[in-house]
Amino acid sequence: MKETRTQFATRLGVIATTVGSAVGLGNIWRFPYEAGVHGGGAFLLIDLFFIFIIGVPVVCAEFIIGRHTGSNIRGAFRALAPGRQWGLVSYIGLCASVMILSFYSVVAGWTMHYTVKSIGGFSGVTTPEALHAQFDAFASSDIAPTAWTLIFLAVNYLILSRGVQKGIERMSNILMPMLFVILLLFTVNSLMMPGASDGLKFLFTPNFSEITPSVVLGAMGQAFFTLSLGLGCLITYSSYFKRETPLLRTSLITAGLDTLVAILAGIIIFPAVFTFGQEPATGPKLVFEVLPSIFANMGGGAIWSTLFFLLLFLASLTSTISMAEITIAYFEEEFGMKRKKATAISIAVSMVLGTLCALSFGSLGGVKLFGMTLFNLFDYTSSNILLPIGGMIISLFVGWVLDRSIVRGELLAGGGRITGWGVSTVVFCLRWLAPVCIGLVFVYGLNIF
Ligand code: PFF
Repeated sequence: MKETRTQFATRLGVIATTVGSAVGLGNIWRFPYEAGVHGGGAFLLIDLFFIFIIGVPVVCAEFIIGRHTGSNIRGAFRALAPGRQWGLVSYIGLCASVMILSFYSVVAGWTMHYTVKSIGGFSGVTTPEALHAQFDAFASSDIAPTAWTLIFLAVNYLILSRGVQKGIERMSNILMPMLFVILLLFTVNSLMMPGASDGLKFLFTPNFSEITPSVVLGAMGQAFFTLSLGLGCLITYSSYFKRETPLLRTSLITAGLDTLVAILAGIIIFPAVFTFGQEPATGPKLVFEVLPSIFANMGGGAIWSTLFFLLLFLASLTSTISMAEITIAYFEEEFGMKRKKATAISIAVSMVLGTLCALSFGSLGGVKLFGMTLFNLFDYTSSNILLPIGGMIISLFVGWVLDRSIVRGELLAGGGRITGWGVSTVVFCLRWLAPVCIGLVFVYGLNIF
């Protein structure tokens, strides 16, 4: 490993940045809407399977590659498998990161708009129908959503151009704990709503007849998306880990806290959905239409709402900086670019694509590829196809190709109470379980044959 490279300064910093990457709109916006579309409890159950049984070992695989090489995704595969085709997975990761950053920034822009709007108490609008209409009018208005998308990406530029430790780590250390506290407060509030029991039933009671191949595909995509997995984000972040960081423990803590946030988000949203007579299967707009109804009916709603959307915006920021870091590290190290230039290029590309995604809810709403708007196409293709393919290749690579002494050495370094048995379990999952499960879900979910 190159000794001169930047590293995260503290243990807390490692957890806060990795959890900061994992926790974001994927938990609070995407999880409730996907669970809503795919029938609630059944979706949650399969999502948990993919997070803990498939996701955690693949997270370890990315960590092993990243920390061992201390390099960007392209450089990492070049170092480990010189002259072989495995490195092609880097390009899948680079494409996925640009696609995700582009559509994600649109939703992050919505959170910025709602932060500002909350200060004014949603202009006095309080009924769910009117709040619904207000969101629709905003999202389809072209100029405002595009402007917020661009502002959000500009904020990313400002943070990312300052570098890894100063920008990313410091911010995550403060924000993540705050987000947990406020989510807990809202959870208690939702549990007291009249629709609480219907909401909880929807979220926690799996109806097995609802499990279809597309539900399974959606849950697998959600698991990869929420863990920031399969596109090299964790390879890039772990390239900044110290030798003492315990990899398996870090991956378990990340998966555990990430899941906790998603479940809390579900407990906040679904009771409200049933209380206000809304439709769980609303899709990407769900959270933005339901949350304001919650706040409108709370004492001091404007303050809570401002705080919530502000934190959601900040949680998105800790995720987008991790996805942008993939391309930035790549440009810096592979093309010898200065950090500022590498950052400017990455952000500029997403500004163009992000604008098109923002317009997908407005004047480009009629432009469809494979029956989807650009926003939905980027969301669906990256999460359900590119990330699992990336994860499968990474897991085959670490399971079958990478020297076993490297795998053992990285997993055992830093302690974390992992034993030889733990190492064999991770390797088994990477060799067999993850690739076979991902392969089967593709065959059925995408109806390949
Ligand atoms: N895990 C993030 C979330 O759940 O919001 C999204 C994400 C971050 C995806 C970083 C991919 C990535 F590289």
